[in-house]
Amino acid sequence: MLTLTEIAEDPLVLERRLDLRDGTEVVFRPLTHTDAERLTGFLEGLSPESRRLSTFAGYDLAAARELCDAIARYDKLRLVLEEVPSGRIVGLLELSLALTPADITRYQEAGIRLAETTDCRFGPTLADDYQGRGVGTLALPLIADVARRLGRTRIILWGGVLADNPRAIRYYEKNGFQPVGSFAGTDGSPSLDMMLDLDQVPSAATSPTRHCGS
Ligand SMILES: CC(C)(COP(=O)(O)OP(=O)(O)OC[C@H]1O[C@@H](n2cnc3c(N)ncnc32)[C@H](O)[C@@H]1OP(=O)(O)O)[C@@H](O)C(=O)NCCC(=O)NCCS
Repeated sequence: MLTLTEIAEDPLVLERRLDLRDGTEVVFRPLTHTDAERLTGFLEGLSPESRRLSTFAGYDLAAARELCDAIARYDKLRLVLEEVPSGRIVGLLELSLALTPADITRYQEAGIRLAETTDCRFGPTLADDYQGRGVGTLALPLIADVARRLGRTRIILWGGVLADNPRAIRYYEKNGFQPVGSFAGTDGSPSLDMMLDLDQVPSAATSPTRHCGS
């Protein structure tokens, strides 16, 4: 089983290339310590609506540095989508190997017992100009493979999904996530819990390149 430290030491172990239908190439890879400036560009470029739908602690160099400094230090694995050849970061896909007491309680109320060692949390954010182009769907089997290699069997949504985020809900549904229940987020926003059983996702590990729509 892969560990966060091993990934930090050899990020290439998770690197894959994705070919979008329009010919754009994107590299899927772990965030590295040298990404702070490029990650700043990604965070700064997020529109107010994207920031509402997917919230970060900040959207500047300090916030980006914090995310880079956190590599292999806590329970988080952050993967980026890097546009080729510009090197621009166009997506940040976050996995957390820890669960919160609130997650555990909400799922318990829905009759699901979460397990610290085999469940993980997922939160995806794409640059505005990359949303709705199928990129999230193309990357999901790669995320599923990473989660499996970390010993996980199920993925839940990190903080749920806002009930007024129809694109994300459709994205999760079409990629096999099942609705679990609804709850009020920390600011009272209506939100939904959804869960993916990794047995339902085909493995992407056999091919180093994935094509949109394939
Ligand atoms: C959510 C997100 C990761 C999904 O990735 P994506 O690449 O945009 O998703 P895809 O293009 O693969 O799929 C989106 C689906 O939603 C559909 N869709 C788009 N807008 C929609 C809307 N307003 N209502 C319903 N469905 C919508 C698309 O048609 C597509 O479904 P289809 O293939 O059946 O036609 C991305 O849009 C994103 O980063 N959004 C902003 C941040 C965010 O919301 N993050 C999630 C927080 S929980």
